[in-house]
Amino acid sequence: MRAACIRAYGGPEELKVEDLPDPTPGPKDVLIEVHAAAINPVDCKMRGGAMRGFLRKPFPFVLGADLSGVVREVGAKCTRLKPGDEVYTSPHHSQLGTYAELAVVREDHVGLKPPSLTHQEAAGIPLAGLTAWDCLTPLEAGQRALILAGSGGVGTLAIQLAKERGAHVITTCSERNTELVRSLGADEVIDYTKQDFADELSEIDLVLDSLGDWAHAKKVLRRGGRLRTIVSGLPDATKRYGPYVGPLTVGVNTAGLLLGSFVCQGVRASSVLRQPSAANLDELTKRVEAGTLRPVVDRVFPLDEIVAAHEYSETGRARGKIVIAVKAE
Ligand SMILES: NC(=O)c1ccc[n+]([C@@H]2O[C@H](COP(=O)([O-])OP(=O)(O)OC[C@H]3O[C@@H](n4cnc5c(N)ncnc54)[C@H](OP(=O)(O)O)[C@@H]3O)[C@@H](O)[C@H]2O)c1
Repeated sequence: MRAACIRAYGGPEELKVEDLPDPTPGPKDVLIEVHAAAINPVDCKMRGGAMRGFLRKPFPFVLGADLSGVVREVGAKCTRLKPGDEVYTSPHHSQLGTYAELAVVREDHVGLKPPSLTHQEAAGIPLAGLTAWDCLTPLEAGQRALILAGSGGVGTLAIQLAKERGAHVITTCSERNTELVRSLGADEVIDYTKQDFADELSEIDLVLDSLGDWAHAKKVLRRGGRLRTIVSGLPDATKRYGPYVGPLTVGVNTAGLLLGSFVCQGVRASSVLRQPSAANLDELTKRVEAGTLRPVVDRVFPLDEIVAAHEYSETGRARGKIVIAVKAE
């Protein structure tokens, strides 16, 4: 199979498209022909080696944590999926490798692709959608939610999911993205280049923090409100303290956040890590088909332009998702 892999940690130029052996599914896995993958900021962090202390991957390391494609083969113990099924998934970190023509993923991490979407549209949903879903689980109708960076991959889906839950949705973005986030359902938009959200807001029920500035994000919460942060600061910690001590410092800081926020402010803070789940993907599919959730695709790059796709992701300016076309649609 053709796949984009790295043979050393480093910049985008480390990514090369190579011919590699086809992966073999285990009894509980399905083998998927990948039609489209998506870029997530975590891919760039992994490429740079931020996770090398605990995510031990041999080289060549095929990156990629999102795909949409067609099942080619199912393992002997699979019960739900069959060859020919159109599926999408964000695999467990032990099964990364969606920048490839073929990928092996546990059956219980694979959902049926929303039929109304193309593979390129569907590929942008799993990782960001599962993350947003997990962050917003405690949100109730009538509550006020602040989604930071509403124009990003996670934010564009989170706004819609929060709206569907009946929340009043406030988001931050720059002026060029105001119209986009309003079209997704945001009730209030704060232009972060002109205003500090912490000066404008208070008594918020839930903040989805995709920027990593916990201390700032916490200020706007009511007592008993929830901070759901998805940014740990691992790349900086790894750079500063190395691949082993770096993650430890992140763990200690996160524990401090959880405990300190609760004791000092009565805020329930948690660090959310996307969990692969076919059941939650099915929930997202239902919402796409009901018309309450739509993916926002910013740019599509062919697999051969994977370096340019990573460079674009690292600008931090993506509006919605960056998609990799593995197979022509
Ligand atoms: N824990 C997990 O499981 C998990 C899962 C997914 C993502 N993440 C992490 O969450 C973060 C966000 O991911 P993503 O995929 O949404 O990123 P992304 O798509 O790359 O985000 C880009 C967007 O962020 C906006 N932005 C940049 N700086 C901003 C600021 N100061 N205030 C408001 N908006 C700002 C940009 O808008 P402008 O161009 O207008 O600035 C752009 O639209 C990343 O660090 C990622 O690694 C974690």
